[in-house]
Amino acid sequence: MPIRVDVDPRARDAIAHLLRNTPEFNEEEVATALELVDDALANPETTYRLITLYDDDDALLGYLCYGRTPMTRFVYDLYWLATERAHRGKGVGRQLVDALYDILNREHSRWTIRVETGTRELYAPTIAFYRRLGFDEAGRIRDFYDVGDDLLTLVITRGDVAA
Ligand SMILES: CC(C)(COP(=O)(O)OP(=O)(O)OC[C@H]1O[C@@H](n2cnc3c(N)ncnc32)[C@H](O)[C@@H]1OP(=O)(O)O)[C@@H](O)C(=O)NCCC(=O)NCCS
Repeated sequence: MPIRVDVDPRARDAIAHLLRNTPEFNEEEVATALELVDDALANPETTYRLITLYDDDDALLGYLCYGRTPMTRFVYDLYWLATERAHRGKGVGRQLVDALYDILNREHSRWTIRVETGTRELYAPTIAFYRRLGFDEAGRIRDFYDVGDDLLTLVITRGDVAA
C-alpha cells in the first residue's frame, strides 16, 4: 500500500469523496478540510502538506493534512486525518501518522505534533485512536464547540532538544 508524500493534484477528487463519505464530518468541516487540501495542492509555499495512502489498485484509503505551526521551532499541527470507512481498523491511520513521524525525524532531532478534536461521543473512537498512538491530553477548553463539546488538545513529542 504505497504512501505518497508529494501528492498529485488528481488526488483532490478522491479526498473530497473520502471526506463526504466520513460521517463524523459535517458540511462545514468538509468544506474547511477541502480548503486546506486546495491550498496544499495549489500553493507550494503554503504550510499545509498532504500525505496519502493508496491500495494496489490506486484507490485512496486515507489521507492526512499537517503543517508546521507558525512561530514555533519544532511543532506541527495535524489538521486532518481520515480513513475510508470500509478500511478502518486495518492500520491505514497508523501508517499515515508513521509517515509523518518519518518526515519529522528526518527534519528535526525533536518534534511535537498537536491535534485538536471535539469531545462529542462521535469522537470517542478518534480520541482512543490518538491515545493508542501515544498522544497525551495537553489541554481542554470546556464547551468550546458547543455545550458539552470541549476542545481537546492532544500532543506527542519525540526526541531531544537540539542545541
Ligand atoms: C481515526 C481514524 C483516522 C483511525 O484510522 P484507522 O485507519 O481506522 O486506524 P488504524 O487501523 O490505523 O488504528 C491504529 C491503532 O489505533 C487503534 N484504534 C483505531 N480505532 C480505534 C478505536 N475506535 N478504539 C480504540 N482503538 C482504536 C487500533 O486498534 C490500532 O492499534 P494497533 O495498531 O496497536 O493495533 C479513522 O477512524 C477515521 O477516519 N475516523 C473518522 C475521521 C476522524 O475522526 N479523523 C480524525 C480527526 S481529524
